[in-house]
Order: sequence, then C-alpha cells, then structure tokens
Amino acid sequence: MSTPHHLRFTNIILLLFLSATLTSLATTTSIPQELLKGFSTVPLSTSTSFQPVLTDRTGNFSLGFLRQNQNDLQLVVVHTPSSEPLWVANPTQSASWADTTRLFFNGSLVLWDSQRSITWSTNTDGDRVVLLNTSNLQIQNKATTKTPLWESFNFPTNTLVQDQNFTTNMTLVSPNRLYSLRLGDNFMGLYEINSEEEQGRSLSKRLFLLYWKHTALQAKARVVTGAGPISARVSTEGYIGMYQTSSKPIDVQKFNSFQQTSSTSFLLVRLESDGNLKGYYWDSTKSAWLLNYQAITETCELPNPCGSYGLCTPGESSCSCLDNQTRFEPGGCFNGSGGEDGELCGVNGIGGEKNYMILRRNGVEPPHKALLEEVTTLSLEECEGLCEKNCRCWGALYNNQTGFCYVLDYQIGTMLGTGDESKVGYFKVRKGARKRNRVGVIIGIVVAVLVGVIVTGGVICVMRWRKKKANPKEEDNWASPGPYKNLGSESFSSIEMSGSAQ
Ligand SMILES: *[C@@H]1O[C@H](CO)[C@@H](O)[C@H](O)[C@H]1NC(C)=O
Ligand SMILES: *[C@@H]1O[C@H](CO)[C@@H](O)[C@H](O)[C@H]1NC(C)=O
Ligand SMILES: *[C@@H]1O[C@H](CO)[C@@H](O)[C@H](O)[C@H]1NC(C)=O
Ligand SMILES: *[C@@H]1O[C@H](CO)[C@@H](O)[C@H](O)[C@H]1NC(C)=O
Ligand SMILES: *[C@@H]1O[C@H](CO)[C@@H](O)[C@H](O)[C@H]1NC(C)=O
Ligand SMILES: *[C@@H]1O[C@H](CO)[C@@H](O)[C@H](O)[C@H]1NC(C)=O
Ligand SMILES: *[C@@H]1O[C@H](CO)[C@@H](O)[C@H](O)[C@H]1NC(C)=O
Ligand SMILES: *[C@@H]1O[C@H](CO)[C@@H](O)[C@H](O)[C@H]1NC(C)=O
Repeated sequence: MSTPHHLRFTNIILLLFLSATLTSLATTTSIPQELLKGFSTVPLSTSTSFQPVLTDRTGNFSLGFLRQNQNDLQLVVVHTPSSEPLWVANPTQSASWADTTRLFFNGSLVLWDSQRSITWSTNTDGDRVVLLNTSNLQIQNKATTKTPLWESFNFPTNTLVQDQNFTTNMTLVSPNRLYSLRLGDNFMGLYEINSEEEQGRSLSKRLFLLYWKHTALQAKARVVTGAGPISARVSTEGYIGMYQTSSKPIDVQKFNSFQQTSSTSFLLVRLESDGNLKGYYWDSTKSAWLLNYQAITETCELPNPCGSYGLCTPGESSCSCLDNQTRFEPGGCFNGSGGEDGELCGVNGIGGEKNYMILRRNGVEPPHKALLEEVTTLSLEECEGLCEKNCRCWGALYNNQTGFCYVLDYQIGTMLGTGDESKVGYFKVRKGARKRNRVGVIIGIVVAVLVGVIVTGGVICVMRWRKKKANPKEEDNWASPGPYKNLGSESFSSIEMSGSAQ
C-alpha cells in the first residue's frame, strides 16, 4: 500500500526538479547574443523589474525592458550584476508595459507602442543587433561588422562608460533634463538647460547657463587651433581624458582610484539630477558602485542646491531663503515664475502696473560669478536701474567695493551667502508667485478643519437644543439607536451650513 504513494512522491519531486532545471536552463539559454531580422518580442506581465532581450558574450551587460512606475517601460542597456541602466533608448518618453508594446528588428530596431503612439527606431537597414562586451549596442551588416550602421555609444543618455568616446556633437543630459554636459573648443562644461530650450523655442546664448567649466591643462599635449574638435573618454586607468589630435591627452581629471583600479573593475561617469558629474567604479567583491570622482565637491557650487530664491552659505552648506520672512522648504522659497513664458516682459498689469515685487538682501553674491559677465557701475542705484529697465532681467547684484554689477537675465535660483554685507542683491519676484511654505498651508488646512468642526458641533448643539425646546417628544427618537437616516441628514445639513457660512 505504501509503495505507490512513495513512488508518486518521488515522481513529484523528480518532476519538480526537472521543471526547475528546465526553466533555469530556459532563462539562461533563451537570452540571445544576437537578434536577426524577424525578431519580435513583447513585455511579459510576469516580469516585475527587468526583462532581458539580448546579452553580451560576457553576460555583464544586457539589453531589455525596464519596468518603472508599474506600467512604464524603457528600453535600456543595463550592467547586469547591478541592474544599473547605462543607456536608455528614448529618455523623454516611456512606453506602456502592455502587450500592445512590441520590440522588433526588421533592419531597424523598433520599439512600437500602439497604446501611447510611441515609435522609437534606429532607422537602419542592418542584418543583426549585437551587444558588445563594452555595453555598446550595435546594428551591423554582416559584410562590414567593423563599421556598424548604428551604435548606442553615439547617443549617450546620462552615462559614459569606460572607453566610450564623447564628442562635441554629443551631450549628456541629467535624468530630470535640467542639466547637460558638453564639450567646448578646449574645455568641458556643465550647463543648466533653460526650459525654453526644451519647449523648442528660439535659442539664445544665455539659454544654456554654464555653471562648471574645466579647461584643458595641456600638460602632455597642446590644443592645436583649427585641427578639429576635442573629445573625451573615461580611461580604464582611472581618469577622464580630453583628446584632440594625438592619443596623448590634452587633459587628465584623475579619479580617486587613479592607476589603482584593477583591470576587472568597470568605470563610468554619470550626470546626476543635482547637476553634478560623478564617477563610479564597480566593486565586484562588494557588489556595489563606489564613488570615485565628483566634478563639484562643494554643495553651494551645485547649480541650484536650494531651489528658487534660495540662499546657500558656503562652509555651512545649509539652505535658507533670500526673503528672510520665508522659511526654507526643499524645492525653493518662491515657486518659479508662474507665467507661461517665464518672462516679466509683456505681461504688465492694467495701466502699466509692474507685475513683480522687489526683494533686497544684503550679504549675497551670484553663484559661479567667475563664469558671469559683469559691468562696472558707479552706484548701487545705477546697477539696480540696469535691471529695473530691462524686463528680461530678474535680478542684479552689486559689490560696492569693486563697482561690479551682475545682471541676471534668467530666473533666480540659489544665490550664495557671503559675510560681506556690502554686497547687495536686488531681485524681482513675480506677483502671485507663491511662497512654497507647505507647513503654512498644512497649518491653514488644520485650522480650517478645526473651525469647521467647531462650527458644525455648535450648529448641531443649537439645532438639538432648539428641537428639544420646540418638540421635546422627538428627543427619544434622536437618542434611540434606530434612525441612522436622521443622524445622517442632520450632520449632512449642518456640514452644508458650515460650508455655505465659510
Ligand atoms: C565582466 O567583465 C569583466 C571585465 O571587465 C570580466 O573579467 C568578467 O569575466 C566579466 N564577467 C562575466 C560574468 O563574464
Ligand atoms: C521596419 O518597420 C518600421 C515600422 O513598422 C517601418 O517604418 C520600416 O520601414 C521597416 N524597415 C524596413 C527596413 O523594413
Ligand atoms: C571584449 O571583446 C574584445 C574583442 O571583441 C576582446 O578583445 C576583449 O578581450 C573582450 N573583453 C572582455 C572583458 O571580455
Ligand atoms: C574612441 O576613439 C579612439 C580614437 O579616435 C578610437 O581609437 C577608439 O576606437 C574609439 N572607441 C570607440 C569605442 O569607438
Ligand atoms: C558626431 O560626429 C561624428 C563625426 O565627428 C559622427 O561620426 C557621428 O555620427 C556624429 N554623431 C551624431 C549623433 O550626430
Ligand atoms: C507653482 O505653483 C503653481 C500653483 O500652485 C503650479 O501650478 C506651478 O506648477 C508651480 N510651478 C513650479 C515651477 O513649481
Ligand atoms: C529681514 O531683512 C530685512 C531687509 O534685509 C531686515 O531689515 C530685517 O531686519 C530682516 N529680518 C530678520 C528677522 O532678520
Ligand atoms: C559700501 O557699503 C557699505 C554699507 O552699505 C558702506 O558702509 C560703505 O561705505 C560702502 N563702500 C563704498 C566704497 O561705497
């Protein structure tokens, strides 16, 4: 009697074991190392975070679907051990995680989402898709594999991996799309991207605000004017090199691990959402990315550490508000401009009334002033006048010792605090720009609710008292557990009353 039972049990174990090995085999062997014409796949509802589609030979990198916010899908190349995205196909839009989204290869690698009408394509006519052991995704022709038709290294997002060439026609953009890294003639710079640029409006010189600049030192090789643009790349020896004509760098920005990293660790630089450029290396023994380099080491030197109309005091690295009546909240002190075009021009109130207020503060100076142009004026009044007359000006800062006047023709972000009270700031604040004092709002809501409760309570008491006086018999009805309707309508009407009373 016990033998069949036993048999069945071992059968089940065997079956389980078999199916487990089969599925694990399936998952390891089914990720291809190349995609040929006719390939097509959809996101699976069972995948929770990452669904690989293609892997490189070492297994260190994979191309696949990254699931975000439950229903959003990004096509990315990740570093497999850490699942860290190194490249994103379409960083400005995400597709939907649904079977209406399809990735296929017909010569072009195409991500097509019929639900959100999103199409991303490499626009090529290739034979295969491969992921190199550098994390570079390529569309190749079988005849000419050396020169790919398309490669992801030409379209970096916010990350540069080791040995990836960064050229003057490329930009790195932070995930929040506020900051970018670009190369100049002989320097690399970090820029604030003005929202007008994102909206596709006409470009002017000031729409990209330089906040960090590293000029080539030219110790090992010199910049030859007219000899072509410069490029940059992260060297496996642990530095960011800038290059022009020779293989010798015109500049070297060393990482902490300079000439110490072993050949098996992996390096990258990344433009973060705070506007800093940071370097990391992968420590495979700790299974962690370790910080290795920071372009900006002082918090107050970041582009906007305290938000709009904020004040950052170097050394203290703490945030406050330019308006000393406003308490600092993360995100800034006044929320931006409010206006659609973010300008003070052409939106004057009735009768030419100014649409802004003036805020003055002593002991402040502009951030990154070495990168700003200054004018020399004879007085504070003259400096402020330059700004007052110009509707594109948002503020002016005057140093009465040097006579330098900085006119800020962009919306006011974070200013720097200085102990020198003779440095004076003049700022325009758009009327109606809300103080972002959320605590105040919350207190307001709490007070309003309390008042409402008291009024409601009072009204109920008065009504009960009146009822009791007018019709004492009804009191039994009220007190009895039965009539929920009464209680409901009673409290409903009193809320209506307190609502209309407000
Ligand atoms: C990952 O790449 C390193 C070299 O960067 C190599 O030594 C290692 O074997 C690779 N890992 C795997 C799993 O292939
Ligand atoms: C691949 O498919 C896309 C989208 O359907 C289409 O626009 C494109 O012409 C196709 N490319 C080739 C080479 O067939
Ligand atoms: C990557 O591939 C190249 C050639 O395709 C090879 O020379 C190199 O050793 C490979 N690197 C790793 C870490 O596998
Ligand atoms: C980067 O540029 C250098 C010099 O032009 C070249 O030798 C190297 O192959 C390039 N690397 C990649 C990944 O394209
Ligand atoms: C950037 O310029 C290089 C040549 O200088 C070119 O090969 C590459 O395709 C360009 N990349 C983009 C994104 O235009
Ligand atoms: C500023 O506040 C208004 C109203 O609360 C809001 O609509 C707007 O999006 C806010 N702007 C910014 C830049 O936070
Ligand atoms: C706030 O600033 C104004 C003008 O700069 C100054 O007169 C006032 O004393 C300051 N108030 C506090 C509480 O610091
Ligand atoms: C600068 O301003 C301070 C304070 O307002 C004043 O005491 C000083 O005399 C001024 N210096 C110059 C050179 O005007």
